[in-house]
Amino acid sequence: MSAESAQGRGRAAARFDVDGLLADRGTRIVVCCGAGGVGKTTTAAAMGVRAAEAGRDAVVITVDPARRLAQSMGLRELDNTPRPVELPETGRGAVPGSLHAMMLDMKRTFDEIVEAHADPERARQILANPFYQSLSSSFSGTQEYMAMEKLGQLRESGDWDLIIVDTPPSRSALDFLDAPERLGRFLDSRLIRILGAPPATGAFRVLGAGVGMVTGVIAKIVGAQVLKDVQSFVAAFDAVFGGFQERAERTYRLLQERGTGFVVVAAPEDDALREAEFFIERLRDDRMPLAGIVLNRVHRTAVPDLPEQAATAAAAELDRLGDHALAAAALRLHAEQARVQDREQWLMDRLAAAHPEVPAAEVPARPEDVHDLVGLAEIGRALGEG
Ligand SMILES: Nc1ncnc2c1ncn2[C@@H]1O[C@H](COP(=O)(O)OP(=O)(O)OP(=O)(O)O)[C@@H](O)[C@H]1O
Ligand SMILES: [Mg+2]
Repeated sequence: MSAESAQGRGRAAARFDVDGLLADRGTRIVVCCGAGGVGKTTTAAAMGVRAAEAGRDAVVITVDPARRLAQSMGLRELDNTPRPVELPETGRGAVPGSLHAMMLDMKRTFDEIVEAHADPERARQILANPFYQSLSSSFSGTQEYMAMEKLGQLRESGDWDLIIVDTPPSRSALDFLDAPERLGRFLDSRLIRILGAPPATGAFRVLGAGVGMVTGVIAKIVGAQVLKDVQSFVAAFDAVFGGFQERAERTYRLLQERGTGFVVVAAPEDDALREAEFFIERLRDDRMPLAGIVLNRVHRTAVPDLPEQAATAAAAELDRLGDHALAAAALRLHAEQARVQDREQWLMDRLAAAHPEVPAAEVPARPEDVHDLVGLAEIGRALGEG
């Protein structure tokens, strides 16, 4: 949508210049976040294609992409390594930049940290530990944390001009920013410390006999074997833990830097927009740089100047005249589309009025899912046009 028509419809917010963000060499990290199913993965991948078209060497970290989309990007396995994406030529010839993509394998990333921080014998013990295995694949927030961890790794490697991060669907907007701290807090919690402390040292010495009783009760509840697993896990993990917390903090600070831009993705629906507002406010509270909001799957009628009521009235008139069933049906279809469009516009205007400081770009709803590079390039173009 052009700036004029945006103003014409009374938007208070500025247009989000996605092309400007992607072409700016100062932009080093873009994080796409938002509610479940709104198009985070699609937007992240489409921005990767668009950035390559603008001459950037970009890498996209995706989380759980749909199978067909992953295949079209040449992603066949979860191996935690960025793979080159073969971009088709555009109308202007070969793409000047490049795109790599990877699917985040949460457990593999967790394992890599352990391997990087513990000596080989201790790493082997941790990786084989059943408690570690369930923690690394199921702890709530681990996926969010691992996306951040991978981002930190890629940034530190210095190999990437632009890193675009897709984030997992979070039921709560808070999960994503809280994940590093929550994981740290969990591993550092009194309970884990107490359970993990070897007898006669640490917490046991301080707390005395009471702890023996506590662990006895816990052993009854969770089972002696689980308790043993936890204890040996914590003992082995201690060496690794300090680095973990420190890395989480470093990545958190990296996100606050000028070279980072958060993009909140939303659909023009009541719930999704409310959740988007929550993200906007949370990012502001955490002083994370918000680049703009992408309103994805916006419906537009082919005849924007024909209002719903006029179309409905005209259809009724044609019914009365008789013999115009097809035209009347087309008018009714248009009336329905106009109704959807008005409703979406009303919701988007409400968001713009509440957050006029946040620029917004609109991406039209396509008749089909986005599952190939051509589709991604089209979404990229729509993003660029705002
Ligand atoms: N503008 C669009 N037009 C049509 N289909 C779209 C559009 N954007 C996304 N989709 C489709 O919507 C579905 C959900 O998109 P996507 O996987 O990007 O969402 P997500 O926010 O990453 O979801 P999740 O929270 O589950 O990770 C996909 O099938 C995708 O192809
Ligand atoms: Mg996704």
